[in-house]
Amino acid sequence: MSTIMVTGAAGFIGFYVAQALLDRGETVVGLDDFNSYYDPRLKVAREEILKRHSSFVSINVDISDLGPLETIFRNYSPSVVCHLAAQAGVRYSLRNPYAYQKSNLEGFVNLIEQAKQHSVDRFVYASSSSVYGGNTKLPYSEDDPVETPVSLYAATKRSNELIAYTYTHLWDMQTIGLRFFTVYGPWGRPDMAYWSFLEAMQYREPIKVFNYGRNRRDFTYIDDVTTGVLAALTVDKLDKYEIINLGNNQPVELMDFINSLEDLSGLKAIKEMVPAQPGDVVATFASIDRASRKLGFKPSTPLKDGLRQFIRWYEDQSSLVKSVRDFRLSQSRE
Ligand SMILES: NC(=O)c1ccc[n+]([C@@H]2O[C@H](COP(=O)([O-])OP(=O)(O)OC[C@H]3O[C@@H](n4cnc5c(N)ncnc54)[C@H](O)[C@@H]3O)[C@@H](O)[C@H]2O)c1
Repeated sequence: MSTIMVTGAAGFIGFYVAQALLDRGETVVGLDDFNSYYDPRLKVAREEILKRHSSFVSINVDISDLGPLETIFRNYSPSVVCHLAAQAGVRYSLRNPYAYQKSNLEGFVNLIEQAKQHSVDRFVYASSSSVYGGNTKLPYSEDDPVETPVSLYAATKRSNELIAYTYTHLWDMQTIGLRFFTVYGPWGRPDMAYWSFLEAMQYREPIKVFNYGRNRRDFTYIDDVTTGVLAALTVDKLDKYEIINLGNNQPVELMDFINSLEDLSGLKAIKEMVPAQPGDVVATFASIDRASRKLGFKPSTPLKDGLRQFIRWYEDQSSLVKSVRDFRLSQSRE
């Protein structure tokens, strides 16, 4: 049993990772600043579930704030860090660049430097499929060039990989970067298409179908991702510096995705076909050979099964889901 620090523990992926670690008997120190990128009540609701475990410590802190972070490292001396806190979202980065600078660049350097100073055994962090940016070769392999990020979000995630490389090179620190591909599931993110489309269908509002529905995404179910992250935190045979895709290896066209949502929910979508958005990539498709070889990663949730789980959760949590919508509407009026 050890102490593992999970940043972004009140976020979607961090919540699942923290829960899986707690279920294995680990002590988890969860960090999050509960910011209002989306309704903080959703983050608090996830945190409440984690708090049912006596070995979970929740700390409300902004990782770009070095002083408190130093104290936390001193007090808890984690043996492993799983760094998932970040300003997520591609489109939001077009209008809010400084949020990415603060959390994804300053916050990342603070975290990795503290991890180094406290000699953590392993530093696992979230990268993203968005680093493949302008790549046209499919599926995306970790050996492909990644010099053409097409959003600031992607550029910060690629920067994280380069900074991690430097820390491995200079200090022999073990750093494992995981490139996630469109993660979805219950307790997910309201800014992502699976949630915002379902909500629009429920309220009979039009949905914008970018690139006329031709974009393809490698939707990856949260339970599969969590299994992959747990392996990255625990398996022995990893190199000192790793970059590993965690995707589903089964890209789906946006139009087929909408059809599945309609079939499974019994609701109809009002589709507004629009051109591609700046910052968007046309297709994401993960090669998972490396994840399979190094982590034993084998995603096993077909999109329809995962969406069914998400829709069931969305219906069960109607008051929380309504609060998330009200919060977003109140923000957009400001
Ligand atoms: N969900 C996906 O499809 C996906 C895809 C690729 C990469 N990622 C990456 O995976 C990680 C987790 O994403 P997620 O989907 O769970 O997003 P999320 O927004 O639900 O979780 C991120 C959490 O980090 C917290 N956070 C942000 N800035 C912070 C700061 N400065 N200090 C402390 N806490 C802060 C937020 O409050 C949030 O709870 C992120 O690094 C994201 O960029 C996610």
